Amino acid sequence: MQGFTQYMPTKIVFGEEAEKETGKLVKECGASKVLLVYGGKSAVKSGLLDRIKRELEKVNVVFEELGGVQPNPRLDLAREGVRKAIDMDADLMLAVGGGSVIDTAKAIAVGAANEGIDIWDVWMGKAFVSKAKPVGAVLTISAAGSEMSDSAVITNKETGKKAGFNSDMVRPRFAVMNPKLTYTLPKYQLACGIVDILMHTLERYFTPVSGNQLTDEIAEGLMRTLIENGKTAYENQEDYEAMSEIMWCSSLSHNNLTGLGRPKDFACHKLGHEIGGMFDEAHGATLSAVWGSWARYVYKLDAARFARYGRKVWKIKDKGEEETAVLAIEATEEFFRFLHMPTCIGEMNIGIQPDEILMQMAESATKGDTVKLGCFKKLDQQDMYEIYKAANHR
Ligand code: NZQ
Ligand code: ZN
Repeated sequence: MQGFTQYMPTKIVFGEEAEKETGKLVKECGASKVLLVYGGKSAVKSGLLDRIKRELEKVNVVFEELGGVQPNPRLDLAREGVRKAIDMDADLMLAVGGGSVIDTAKAIAVGAANEGIDIWDVWMGKAFVSKAKPVGAVLTISAAGSEMSDSAVITNKETGKKAGFNSDMVRPRFAVMNPKLTYTLPKYQLACGIVDILMHTLERYFTPVSGNQLTDEIAEGLMRTLIENGKTAYENQEDYEAMSEIMWCSSLSHNNLTGLGRPKDFACHKLGHEIGGMFDEAHGATLSAVWGSWARYVYKLDAARFARYGRKVWKIKDKGEEETAVLAIEATEEFFRFLHMPTCIGEMNIGIQPDEILMQMAESATKGDTVKLGCFKKLDQQDMYEIYKAANHR
């Protein structure tokens, strides 16, 4: 086991009507001026936003609003939020929504604490910051895990670049998680979320470091739980137990618990972010579309690991390393198909892409072939291109 530092500062309030605790949680952070950040319409339509406002009013917290966050959240809106947060002297950003909303709130929290620094410079590694305002989250979709993660992913529409910033500074102080709030999700978003949750653990499971018994068992347990309940929830979205399990999986899959003691890979996320940034496809779909091609490209480096994944997670009977490994990859893709998620680029909304686009994405991901991605196999520009190419069919 490699040495590690684990930091989980997020207070979780989980359960039916958990949102009633929001005002109290804001107060516990010592905040009194909140910027309320939300998305397109779901939180307004469901009445959740009004309920949250009432909870803030009850504890005499003043607030201003920033709505309109879109999936693959935009830099422009985050910049607008920074200006608003500075003008009102906000002392906490409260996200009501999913990963896109929470990430926007995190970006605002960074910008508002570092007046004069453009957030995109921070995201591009050109400016360095050491503080951020506090963030709290009322979660409405089980997916990105941003409610406990150290990460915030923003898209710059001018350049088509989607990029993440990682720092413990942006981990939310609290997350309110009521599984019932996810009942209204469009089926496609539910499926995208399940894929993303699975991927957050898979990207930590396939690494070159072995000998992490507890972390492996946690990771495998989480994946089994997610798959079983993902199937149930996909058939009946109002199954409270299934939606609860998925929601808790979403947080634990991306707060690093399933990767302790080993490095992260996250090459598939890099492959996916290029597609998301360029074409605005939903994050989960970009991952299911490339994972199988990535897995087939790399599995021979450690077929035993893929075979273990097959036995432990998919309960495949051992048929020797090679065959079990391939069956495990196929079982994963079958699950994606069950969720009606794409397993190749041609099945996404964008359809099959010309070679130049694939190379452009490979180049952008590897910053002009200057950085290698992932660690199970370190991928250069040509490797990335080969994976895109293998996925570029219908
Ligand atoms: O805008 P509204 O109307 O709210 O609609 C949203 C949006 O269209 C809808 N939705 C959310 N909750 C709903 C609902 N619709 C009905 N009922 C509800 N209860 O769902 C759509 C997707 O929302 P979004 O926030 O984009 O989903 P998700 O949580 O999957 O977030 C995706 C974003 O997070 C990033 C992704 O790259 C992507 O930009 N990620 C963030 C991570 C992090 N910060 O740690 C890690 C991830 O790997 C990921 O990269
Ligand atoms: Zn993800």
